Amino acid sequence: MSISRRTVLASGIALPLTAPLAACDRTSAEPIPPNVPPLKSVAPSPFGTAIKALQIDDPDWVALARANVDQLTPEWEMKMEYILADGLDRPRFDRSDRIAAFAKAQGMAMHGHTLIWYAQGKEVFEGLSGAAFDRAFDGYIAAVAGRYRGKVRSWDVVNEPILDDGSALRDCHWSARYGQDGYILRAFEKARIADPDAVLFLNEYNQESIPAKGVQFLKLVERLLKAGCPLQGLGLQSHLWIDIPEGVIAAYMREVAQFGLPIHVSELDCTLRTENRLDLRSQADRLALQSDRVTELASAFAALPERQRFAFTVWGLRDTDSWYRQGQKDDGRDKPLAFDSFGRPNPMAQALVAGFRT
Ligand code: XIL
Repeated sequence: MSISRRTVLASGIALPLTAPLAACDRTSAEPIPPNVPPLKSVAPSPFGTAIKALQIDDPDWVALARANVDQLTPEWEMKMEYILADGLDRPRFDRSDRIAAFAKAQGMAMHGHTLIWYAQGKEVFEGLSGAAFDRAFDGYIAAVAGRYRGKVRSWDVVNEPILDDGSALRDCHWSARYGQDGYILRAFEKARIADPDAVLFLNEYNQESIPAKGVQFLKLVERLLKAGCPLQGLGLQSHLWIDIPEGVIAAYMREVAQFGLPIHVSELDCTLRTENRLDLRSQADRLALQSDRVTELASAFAALPERQRFAFTVWGLRDTDSWYRQGQKDDGRDKPLAFDSFGRPNPMAQALVAGFRT
Protein backbone atom coordinates (compact mmCIF):
# COMPACT_ATOMS: atom_id res chain seq x y z
CA MET A 1 0.00 0.00 0.00
CA SER A 2 1.40 3.40 -0.80
CA ILE A 3 0.30 6.61 0.81
CA SER A 4 1.15 9.72 -1.12
CA ARG A 5 3.06 12.53 0.53
CA ARG A 6 0.08 14.73 -0.15
CA THR A 7 -2.27 12.38 1.68
CA VAL A 8 -0.02 12.17 4.70
CA LEU A 9 0.50 15.93 4.73
CA ALA A 10 -3.21 16.58 4.37
CA SER A 11 -4.08 14.24 7.19
CA GLY A 12 -1.85 16.00 9.67
CA ILE A 13 -0.72 12.65 11.06
CA ALA A 14 2.25 10.45 10.29
CA LEU A 15 1.10 6.99 9.31
CA PRO A 16 3.54 4.13 9.10
CA LEU A 17 3.58 3.15 5.44
CA THR A 18 2.83 -0.43 6.38
CA ALA A 19 -0.30 0.43 8.36
CA PRO A 20 -3.15 -1.94 7.56
CA LEU A 21 -6.26 -0.33 6.11
CA ALA A 22 -8.23 -0.79 9.30
CA ALA A 23 -5.70 1.32 11.16
CA CYS A 24 -6.52 4.20 8.83
CA ASP A 25 -10.13 3.83 9.67
CA ARG A 26 -10.31 6.10 12.67
CA THR A 27 -7.58 8.26 14.11
CA SER A 28 -7.40 9.88 17.51
CA ALA A 29 -7.91 13.25 15.80
CA GLU A 30 -11.35 12.24 14.58
CA PRO A 31 -14.51 12.75 16.59
CA ILE A 32 -16.28 9.55 17.58
CA PRO A 33 -20.01 10.13 17.47
CA PRO A 34 -22.17 8.89 20.29
CA ASN A 35 -24.37 5.92 19.56
CA VAL A 36 -26.86 6.91 16.93
CA PRO A 37 -30.39 5.57 16.66
CA PRO A 38 -31.21 3.27 13.73
CA LEU A 39 -31.26 5.60 10.73
CA LYS A 40 -34.57 4.22 9.48
CA SER A 41 -36.14 5.19 12.80
CA VAL A 42 -35.26 8.87 12.41
CA ALA A 43 -35.54 9.32 8.64
CA PRO A 44 -38.70 11.15 7.55
CA SER A 45 -39.21 8.66 4.69
CA PRO A 46 -38.09 5.14 3.85
CA PHE A 47 -34.31 4.97 4.35
CA GLY A 48 -32.39 2.95 1.78
CA THR A 49 -28.97 1.72 0.81
CA ALA A 50 -27.30 0.47 -2.31
CA ILE A 51 -26.75 -3.29 -2.26
CA LYS A 52 -24.57 -5.73 -4.18
CA ALA A 53 -25.77 -9.34 -4.23
CA LEU A 54 -22.60 -10.61 -2.55
CA GLN A 55 -23.33 -8.51 0.52
CA ILE A 56 -26.24 -10.83 1.26
CA ASP A 57 -23.56 -13.39 2.20
CA ASP A 58 -21.91 -11.01 4.67
CA PRO A 59 -23.67 -11.37 8.07
CA ASP A 60 -22.19 -8.10 9.34
CA TRP A 61 -23.56 -6.21 6.36
CA VAL A 62 -26.96 -7.89 6.72
CA ALA A 63 -27.15 -7.00 10.43
CA LEU A 64 -26.26 -3.38 9.72
CA ALA A 65 -28.79 -3.20 6.90
CA ARG A 66 -31.57 -4.79 8.95
CA ALA A 67 -30.98 -2.31 11.73
CA ASN A 68 -30.82 0.80 9.59
CA VAL A 69 -32.66 0.52 6.28
CA ASP A 70 -36.05 -0.38 4.92
CA GLN A 71 -35.30 -0.03 1.22
CA LEU A 72 -32.69 -1.38 -1.24
CA THR A 73 -31.30 -0.16 -4.57
CA PRO A 74 -29.17 -2.64 -6.55
CA GLU A 75 -25.82 -0.90 -7.00
CA TRP A 76 -25.03 -2.33 -10.44
CA GLU A 77 -26.56 -5.78 -10.97
CA MET A 78 -29.84 -4.36 -12.27
CA LYS A 79 -28.07 -2.25 -14.88
CA MET A 80 -27.87 -3.01 -18.59
CA GLU A 81 -24.13 -3.61 -18.28
CA TYR A 82 -24.80 -6.61 -16.08
CA ILE A 83 -28.14 -7.82 -17.44
CA LEU A 84 -26.97 -7.79 -21.08
CA ALA A 85 -23.38 -8.94 -20.48
CA ASP A 86 -24.15 -12.16 -22.40
CA GLY A 87 -26.07 -10.37 -25.15
CA LEU A 88 -29.62 -9.27 -25.87
CA ASP A 89 -30.97 -12.79 -26.13
CA ARG A 90 -29.57 -14.03 -22.85
CA PRO A 91 -30.45 -11.52 -20.14
CA ARG A 92 -28.93 -12.22 -16.74
CA PHE A 93 -31.40 -11.74 -13.91
CA ASP A 94 -29.73 -14.02 -11.39
CA ARG A 95 -28.37 -11.31 -9.13
CA SER A 96 -31.23 -8.85 -9.34
CA ASP A 97 -33.60 -11.75 -8.62
CA ARG A 98 -31.50 -12.63 -5.59
CA ILE A 99 -31.63 -9.06 -4.32
CA ALA A 100 -35.40 -8.93 -4.91
CA ALA A 101 -35.88 -12.18 -2.98
CA PHE A 102 -33.72 -10.85 -0.13
CA ALA A 103 -35.70 -7.60 -0.02
CA LYS A 104 -38.95 -9.54 0.15
CA ALA A 105 -37.68 -11.89 2.87
CA GLN A 106 -36.52 -8.92 4.94
CA GLY A 107 -39.71 -6.92 4.39
CA MET A 108 -37.71 -4.20 2.65
CA ALA A 109 -38.86 -2.18 -0.35
CA MET A 110 -36.86 -2.08 -3.55
CA HIS A 111 -36.00 0.73 -5.95
CA GLY A 112 -35.06 -0.27 -9.52
CA HIS A 113 -31.86 1.24 -10.88
CA THR A 114 -31.59 1.90 -13.83
CA LEU A 115 -33.23 1.22 -17.18
CA ILE A 116 -31.67 3.64 -19.67
CA TRP A 117 -28.27 5.26 -19.06
CA TYR A 118 -25.99 7.01 -21.57
CA ALA A 119 -23.04 5.12 -20.07
CA GLN A 120 -24.30 1.64 -20.89
CA GLY A 121 -25.56 -0.50 -23.76
CA LYS A 122 -23.49 1.06 -26.53
CA GLU A 123 -21.71 -2.14 -27.59
CA VAL A 124 -24.89 -4.23 -27.49
CA PHE A 125 -26.94 -1.74 -29.49
CA GLU A 126 -24.38 -0.44 -31.98
CA GLY A 127 -24.95 -3.27 -34.46
CA LEU A 128 -28.68 -2.53 -34.58
CA SER A 129 -30.50 -0.06 -36.76
CA GLY A 130 -34.05 1.02 -37.50
CA ALA A 131 -36.78 -1.29 -36.34
CA ALA A 132 -34.32 -3.73 -34.79
CA PHE A 133 -32.99 -0.98 -32.51
CA ASP A 134 -36.54 -0.03 -31.55
CA ARG A 135 -37.45 -3.63 -30.79
CA ALA A 136 -34.39 -4.06 -28.61
CA PHE A 137 -34.89 -0.75 -26.78
CA ASP A 138 -38.58 -1.29 -26.13
CA GLY A 139 -38.09 -5.00 -25.48
CA TYR A 140 -35.39 -4.38 -22.86
CA ILE A 141 -37.59 -2.03 -20.87
CA ALA A 142 -40.59 -4.34 -21.20
CA ALA A 143 -38.56 -7.36 -20.05
CA VAL A 144 -36.79 -5.74 -17.11
CA ALA A 145 -39.53 -3.46 -15.78
CA GLY A 146 -42.08 -6.21 -16.49
CA ARG A 147 -40.11 -8.82 -14.56
CA TYR A 148 -39.97 -6.68 -11.42
CA ARG A 149 -43.53 -5.41 -11.58
CA GLY A 150 -44.96 -5.71 -8.09
CA LYS A 151 -41.45 -6.22 -6.69
CA VAL A 152 -40.10 -2.68 -7.00
CA ARG A 153 -41.94 0.41 -5.81
CA SER A 154 -40.09 2.68 -8.22
CA TRP A 155 -37.61 2.89 -11.11
CA ASP A 156 -34.85 5.20 -12.21
CA VAL A 157 -36.07 5.09 -15.80
CA VAL A 158 -33.39 7.39 -17.18
CA ASN A 159 -30.09 8.11 -15.46
CA GLU A 160 -27.79 11.12 -15.89
CA PRO A 161 -29.02 12.79 -19.09
CA ILE A 162 -27.19 16.10 -18.51
CA LEU A 163 -23.59 17.10 -19.31
CA ASP A 164 -21.30 17.69 -16.33
CA ASP A 165 -21.06 21.46 -16.85
CA GLY A 166 -24.83 21.72 -17.21
CA SER A 167 -24.55 23.36 -20.62
CA ALA A 168 -26.79 20.87 -22.44
CA LEU A 169 -28.13 17.34 -22.54
CA ARG A 170 -25.69 14.56 -23.38
CA ASP A 171 -25.40 13.08 -26.84
CA CYS A 172 -25.28 9.31 -26.67
CA HIS A 173 -26.31 6.17 -28.57
CA TRP A 174 -29.89 6.64 -27.36
CA SER A 175 -30.16 10.30 -28.38
CA ALA A 176 -28.58 9.48 -31.77
CA ARG A 177 -31.71 7.51 -32.66
CA TYR A 178 -34.48 9.28 -30.76
CA GLY A 179 -33.17 12.77 -29.98
CA GLN A 180 -32.02 14.23 -26.66
CA ASP A 181 -35.49 14.56 -25.15
CA GLY A 182 -36.87 11.82 -27.42
CA TYR A 183 -35.10 8.88 -25.83
CA ILE A 184 -36.17 10.00 -22.39
CA LEU A 185 -39.80 10.32 -23.45
CA ARG A 186 -39.75 6.94 -25.12
CA ALA A 187 -38.15 5.23 -22.12
CA PHE A 188 -40.75 6.63 -19.73
CA GLU A 189 -43.62 5.65 -22.01
CA LYS A 190 -42.35 2.08 -22.31
CA ALA A 191 -41.68 1.84 -18.56
CA ARG A 192 -45.21 3.08 -17.83
CA ILE A 193 -46.63 0.27 -19.97
CA ALA A 194 -44.34 -2.39 -18.47
CA ASP A 195 -45.05 -1.43 -14.86
CA PRO A 196 -48.11 0.77 -14.40
CA ASP A 197 -47.70 0.81 -10.60
CA ALA A 198 -44.07 1.82 -10.12
CA VAL A 199 -43.21 5.46 -9.49
CA LEU A 200 -41.04 6.53 -12.42
CA PHE A 201 -37.98 8.68 -11.70
CA LEU A 202 -35.48 10.76 -13.61
CA ASN A 203 -32.17 10.51 -11.73
CA GLU A 204 -29.22 12.92 -11.96
CA TYR A 205 -26.09 13.87 -10.04
CA ASN A 206 -24.71 17.30 -9.12
CA GLN A 207 -28.03 19.01 -9.78
CA GLU A 208 -28.08 19.96 -6.08
CA SER A 209 -24.44 21.08 -6.05
CA ILE A 210 -23.66 22.71 -9.42
CA PRO A 211 -26.17 25.50 -10.12
CA ALA A 212 -25.86 25.35 -13.94
CA LYS A 213 -26.63 21.65 -13.89
CA GLY A 214 -29.57 22.20 -11.58
CA VAL A 215 -31.04 24.79 -13.94
CA GLN A 216 -30.67 22.40 -16.89
CA PHE A 217 -32.40 19.65 -14.89
CA LEU A 218 -35.31 21.92 -13.96
CA LYS A 219 -35.75 22.98 -17.60
CA LEU A 220 -35.70 19.37 -18.73
CA VAL A 221 -38.32 18.34 -16.18
CA GLU A 222 -40.53 21.23 -17.25
CA ARG A 223 -40.28 20.22 -20.94
CA LEU A 224 -40.93 16.55 -20.19
CA LEU A 225 -44.01 17.29 -18.10
CA LYS A 226 -45.37 19.65 -20.79
CA ALA A 227 -44.85 16.89 -23.34
CA GLY A 228 -47.02 14.55 -21.26
CA CYS A 229 -44.16 12.35 -20.04
CA PRO A 230 -45.24 9.95 -17.26
CA LEU A 231 -42.39 11.27 -15.11
CA GLN A 232 -43.48 11.00 -11.48
CA GLY A 233 -40.42 11.52 -9.33
CA LEU A 234 -37.10 13.33 -9.22
CA GLY A 235 -33.94 11.57 -8.11
CA LEU A 236 -31.15 13.68 -6.62
CA GLN A 237 -28.14 11.38 -6.50
CA SER A 238 -26.32 13.61 -4.00
CA HIS A 239 -22.77 12.41 -4.48
CA LEU A 240 -21.54 15.32 -2.38
CA TRP A 241 -18.08 16.67 -1.60
CA ILE A 242 -16.86 18.86 1.23
CA ASP A 243 -16.34 22.13 -0.68
CA ILE A 244 -19.89 22.59 -1.93
CA PRO A 245 -20.70 26.14 -0.79
CA GLU A 246 -23.04 26.38 2.18
CA GLY A 247 -26.70 26.91 1.29
CA VAL A 248 -26.53 25.71 -2.32
CA ILE A 249 -28.04 22.29 -1.60
CA ALA A 250 -30.90 23.64 0.52
CA ALA A 251 -31.73 26.35 -2.02
CA TYR A 252 -31.89 23.80 -4.82
CA MET A 253 -34.09 21.46 -2.79
CA ARG A 254 -36.63 24.27 -2.33
CA GLU A 255 -36.53 25.01 -6.06
CA VAL A 256 -36.90 21.46 -7.35
CA ALA A 257 -39.70 20.82 -4.85
CA GLN A 258 -41.89 23.34 -6.68
CA PHE A 259 -42.93 20.72 -9.24
CA GLY A 260 -44.75 19.02 -6.39
CA LEU A 261 -43.28 15.65 -7.38
CA PRO A 262 -41.85 13.05 -4.98
CA ILE A 263 -38.12 13.54 -4.33
CA HIS A 264 -35.67 10.68 -3.84
CA VAL A 265 -32.23 11.43 -2.42
CA SER A 266 -31.03 8.41 -4.29
CA GLU A 267 -27.27 7.87 -3.86
CA LEU A 268 -25.91 9.93 -0.98
CA ASP A 269 -22.25 9.80 -0.17
CA CYS A 270 -19.76 12.58 0.58
CA THR A 271 -16.12 12.12 -0.29
CA LEU A 272 -13.42 13.80 1.78
CA ARG A 273 -11.16 14.01 -1.25
CA THR A 274 -10.76 17.24 -3.17
CA GLU A 275 -9.20 18.30 -6.43
CA ASN A 276 -7.22 21.08 -4.76
CA ARG A 277 -3.55 20.94 -5.76
CA LEU A 278 -2.47 21.67 -2.23
CA ASP A 279 -4.89 20.82 0.54
CA LEU A 280 -3.50 20.76 4.04
CA ARG A 281 -6.75 20.44 5.91
CA SER A 282 -6.83 17.76 8.58
CA GLN A 283 -9.11 14.74 8.44
CA ALA A 284 -11.06 16.19 11.38
CA ASP A 285 -11.63 19.48 9.52
CA ARG A 286 -12.78 17.57 6.46
CA LEU A 287 -15.18 15.49 8.53
CA ALA A 288 -16.65 18.65 10.05
CA LEU A 289 -17.31 20.05 6.57
CA GLN A 290 -18.79 16.74 5.51
CA SER A 291 -21.15 16.79 8.47
CA ASP A 292 -22.29 20.31 7.59
CA ARG A 293 -23.16 19.40 4.01
CA VAL A 294 -24.88 16.14 4.96
CA THR A 295 -26.92 17.83 7.68
CA GLU A 296 -27.92 20.52 5.19
CA LEU A 297 -29.14 17.90 2.72
CA ALA A 298 -30.98 15.81 5.31
CA SER A 299 -32.61 18.85 6.81
CA ALA A 300 -33.68 20.23 3.40
CA PHE A 301 -35.20 16.82 2.62
CA ALA A 302 -36.98 16.67 5.97
CA ALA A 303 -38.47 20.11 5.28
CA LEU A 304 -40.26 18.87 2.14
CA PRO A 305 -44.00 18.28 2.36
CA GLU A 306 -44.59 14.72 3.52
CA ARG A 307 -46.04 13.52 0.21
CA GLN A 308 -42.82 14.59 -1.55
CA ARG A 309 -40.45 12.68 0.76
CA PHE A 310 -40.23 9.53 -1.33
CA ALA A 311 -37.05 7.99 0.09
CA PHE A 312 -33.55 8.81 1.27
CA THR A 313 -30.88 6.39 0.09
CA VAL A 314 -27.19 6.14 0.92
CA TRP A 315 -24.80 4.71 -1.67
CA GLY A 316 -23.53 2.00 0.64
CA LEU A 317 -23.39 1.52 4.41
CA ARG A 318 -19.73 1.10 5.41
CA ASP A 319 -16.88 3.19 4.02
CA THR A 320 -15.29 0.06 2.61
CA ASP A 321 -18.51 -0.71 0.70
CA SER A 322 -18.25 2.57 -1.19
CA TRP A 323 -17.39 2.86 -4.87
CA TYR A 324 -14.83 5.48 -3.73
CA ARG A 325 -13.03 2.73 -1.86
CA GLN A 326 -12.83 0.27 -4.76
CA GLY A 327 -9.87 -0.31 -7.05
CA GLN A 328 -7.80 2.59 -8.28
CA LYS A 329 -10.01 5.19 -6.68
CA ASP A 330 -9.11 3.95 -3.20
CA ASP A 331 -6.69 6.05 -1.19
CA GLY A 332 -7.46 4.01 1.95
CA ARG A 333 -8.55 7.07 3.90
CA ASP A 334 -11.78 8.31 2.42
CA LYS A 335 -14.83 8.10 4.68
CA PRO A 336 -17.70 8.79 2.34
CA LEU A 337 -20.43 6.86 4.16
CA ALA A 338 -22.30 6.74 7.47
CA PHE A 339 -20.49 3.72 8.97
CA ASP A 340 -16.83 2.77 9.21
CA SER A 341 -15.43 -0.53 8.02
CA PHE A 342 -16.47 -2.18 11.30
CA GLY A 343 -20.03 -0.91 11.02
CA ARG A 344 -19.57 1.72 13.73
CA PRO A 345 -21.27 5.05 13.13
CA ASN A 346 -19.16 7.74 11.49
CA PRO A 347 -19.74 11.44 12.09
CA MET A 348 -21.90 11.29 8.95
CA ALA A 349 -24.46 9.11 10.76
CA GLN A 350 -24.79 11.76 13.45
CA ALA A 351 -25.05 14.45 10.76
CA LEU A 352 -27.96 12.59 9.17
CA VAL A 353 -29.76 12.29 12.48
CA ALA A 354 -29.22 15.99 13.19
CA GLY A 355 -30.54 16.95 9.75
CA PHE A 356 -33.58 14.70 9.91
CA ARG A 357 -34.49 16.09 13.32
CA THR A 358 -34.32 19.78 12.39
C1 XIL B 1 -21.64 3.01 -9.61
C2 XIL B 1 -21.45 1.85 -8.66
O1 XIL B 1 -21.34 2.34 -7.34
C3 XIL B 1 -20.23 1.07 -9.04
O2 XIL B 1 -20.13 -0.07 -8.21
C4 XIL B 1 -20.34 0.67 -10.50
O3 XIL B 1 -19.21 0.06 -10.90
C5 XIL B 1 -20.54 1.90 -11.37
O4 XIL B 1 -21.67 2.59 -10.94
N1 XIL B 1 -24.28 7.29 -10.47
C6 XIL B 1 -25.11 6.21 -10.56
C7 XIL B 1 -24.68 4.92 -10.04
O5 XIL B 1 -26.27 6.36 -10.98
O6 XIL B 1 -25.24 3.84 -10.75
C8 XIL B 1 -23.18 4.79 -9.98
O7 XIL B 1 -22.87 3.59 -9.30
C9 XIL B 1 -22.58 5.98 -9.29
C10 XIL B 1 -22.91 7.25 -10.03
